Amino acid sequence: MQNKKQNKIVNFEIDNIDPLGQGVSKIDNKIVFIPKTLPGEKGQATITKKKGKVFFAEANKIETAAEKRIEAECPHYDQCSGCSFLHTDYESELNFKKITLERAFAQLTPTQVQVIGAKERFHYRNRVQLHYHKNSKTIGQHKRMSHYIVETKNCLLGTPEVQEKLQEVYDEKFWSKLSNQPPTGHLEIYKDGESASISYNQNYATGGFTQVNEQMNIELNEYIFQIMNSAEPKNCVELFGGNGNISRKFKEQNPDFKRILIDIYPHQISSDDDLFLNLNIYKTEISEFKSSLSKSFPKIDCLIIDPPRSGYKELVNFLREFEPKEIIYVSCDHQTLRRDLSQVEGYEFKSITLVDLFPSTHHFETVIHLVKKQ
Ligand SMILES: C[S@@+](CC[C@H](N)C(=O)[O-])C[C@H]1O[C@@H](n2cnc3c(N)ncnc32)[C@H](O)[C@@H]1O
Repeated sequence: MQNKKQNKIVNFEIDNIDPLGQGVSKIDNKIVFIPKTLPGEKGQATITKKKGKVFFAEANKIETAAEKRIEAECPHYDQCSGCSFLHTDYESELNFKKITLERAFAQLTPTQVQVIGAKERFHYRNRVQLHYHKNSKTIGQHKRMSHYIVETKNCLLGTPEVQEKLQEVYDEKFWSKLSNQPPTGHLEIYKDGESASISYNQNYATGGFTQVNEQMNIELNEYIFQIMNSAEPKNCVELFGGNGNISRKFKEQNPDFKRILIDIYPHQISSDDDLFLNLNIYKTEISEFKSSLSKSFPKIDCLIIDPPRSGYKELVNFLREFEPKEIIYVSCDHQTLRRDLSQVEGYEFKSITLVDLFPSTHHFETVIHLVKKQ
């Protein structure tokens, strides 16, 4: 394949699935990413873009379909970039995610990946973000690799409250609500008690971060509880701790357990025993942490860390300073998770667990438990 052959039609055969859920094919010795395809599938695709040495294409025709191919339940799936696996069943989706995680950690540890799958593939998101364009009067999700907006009125991911609110934004009258807003922007529909509300052009997660999948957050909490219950820490520091969600169940069941929660968003804390530090962790030197943490905890039993996708590059230095006995790293980005943990020495991987908080999409949560070597 020549380098500048966009719109060229090519024959493909899919070898495997990449971490973004795209099929990967080798055509004339070039790597081509083709979303919404499955391993073993053959067909025709149109090359749409080249980036560095790799190409991106859209499948036009599947000539040999995989056994696991199914009809997507969502009417927007062909166009929308929000979901990646609706052309196959949930079991296969989970398996692709597991392989992604196994590959990421294969060279770091022989620890086997465990999986906690979701019970519901749809109707779980308590927040959805949509883009709008006033001139063209379109609201929805971006098309893959473009700023073109695909209308997603029948998106299946929102909770019933969010889905009901979603219908309002597709009513002609809705445009008057955007009269004071810029010509292009975004809005967020979020569950607000028994109904849903809308915020306009605000930061993601209006009112402070909460996990988007409440059902799976219970599973996540339960799983972390089991880890902590076997480790029996007396205290923990929760970096990027938000409202203390991750260790909540352990705290509830162990009233003497003490926590320090650290987050940039100023959360209210409910227990007198908890301490909240309102800090920008990325801008806090290890020496500053030392002066504020060692007053309360001369020794940290358990470090819980649950950063945004960018991870926490300073983890290795934090560990050198504080040497916690246990680490529970919760991450929504396995690549930054791997980057951060590949530097860590003197700890043993106890478990690596995929918790599927984001079914239908290529995203997932990973929980890694490490214990300090004796
Ligand atoms: C993935 S969320 C986890 C929150 C919490 N552990 C939970 O389960 O609800 C990441 C958290 O990092 C916080 N955060 C983002 N950037 C930060 C920064 N620079 N310094 C401190 N906290 C930050 C966010 O406010 C958010 O609460």
